[in-house]
Amino acid sequence: MQLQLTSPLDMHLHLRQEGMLQNVAPLSSKSFNGALIMPNTLPPITTKEMLLAYKKEILEATKEDNFTPYMTLFFNSSYDYDFLKSLKNEIVAIKLYPAGITTNSEGGVAAFDIEQLRPTLEAMSKLDIPLCIHGESNGFVMDREAEFIPIYKQLATAFPKLKIIMEHITTAASAKAVLEHKNLYATITLHHLYITLDDLAGGMLQPHLFCKPIAKRPEDREALLNLALNAHPKVMFGSDSAPHPKSAKEAPGCAAGVFTAPIALQALTELFEKHNKLENLQAFVSDNAQKIYKIFPPKKEVVLVKKEYTVPSSYGDVVPFLANQTLHWSIQ
Ligand code: DOR
Ligand code: ZN
Repeated sequence: MQLQLTSPLDMHLHLRQEGMLQNVAPLSSKSFNGALIMPNTLPPITTKEMLLAYKKEILEATKEDNFTPYMTLFFNSSYDYDFLKSLKNEIVAIKLYPAGITTNSEGGVAAFDIEQLRPTLEAMSKLDIPLCIHGESNGFVMDREAEFIPIYKQLATAFPKLKIIMEHITTAASAKAVLEHKNLYATITLHHLYITLDDLAGGMLQPHLFCKPIAKRPEDREALLNLALNAHPKVMFGSDSAPHPKSAKEAPGCAAGVFTAPIALQALTELFEKHNKLENLQAFVSDNAQKIYKIFPPKKEVVLVKKEYTVPSSYGDVVPFLANQTLHWSIQ
């Protein structure tokens, strides 16, 4: 048995820089045709020069494959129309982080004052540049995403022509909210379709499952599965694969991030097969994203075959999701 996917895309990916990028970028380009690249590097991507240099670094590391890095800029409310216009052909979206909410987000937005954000968001809206948001408040960790929903709604209403992508949604409330505004969309990760908080912290603590936003309740996972398995046109796959060295994960002060890139496509296939929804995988991993972002990736066929595959215990110094476990699908 086999399954052919055309131009699979990962619409939320962290590649880091230098040695880490050299290690992980080829693992994405082996499976995926392209990916939306997150800008929370050190320092974050905020200028055209940084963006072009970063894109070059990614293309260099993935040159064995035909991989398209869809670049993003780190949101800053000082960006004006002329600056964004000059970048319009180089970026696919802008990523907004609340200040300090996750890895390298210190320079993010400190207060969600619509009037202060208006000039930049209006310019993005005019230029048709989507806004990707890490939607969490700084409240109680289980409630952070829910507390951010009013801000999503406020932004979606104030800027009706701005496409807003609710990144890595983890709750039933977000799965509902995304359907309530025409201009809201969402990415869903592999790990939030697989795990709940119990897998992370119900037994011995599993640092390689720790990420932001943290995995939630079984009913939340059900709601995400319902959207993803049916490939609802407002959702698309974004792995949020976020590599950290083993030494930063298996440590007090464990870094947030689950590294799924090398096994994402195989594990998604397994999940969709288990739920008898294989026919919807193409839309979830590519077609929906092409329509939402108006991108036209070069055609690449990736064939998955039903053959057992044991996930390696590490890739360099990074431990992957499902390490040492056996999946039933492999990439040909
Ligand atoms: O767990 C996470 N890790 N969540 C994020 O939003 C960022 C990411 C990272 O860059 O490590
Ligand atoms: Zn992320």
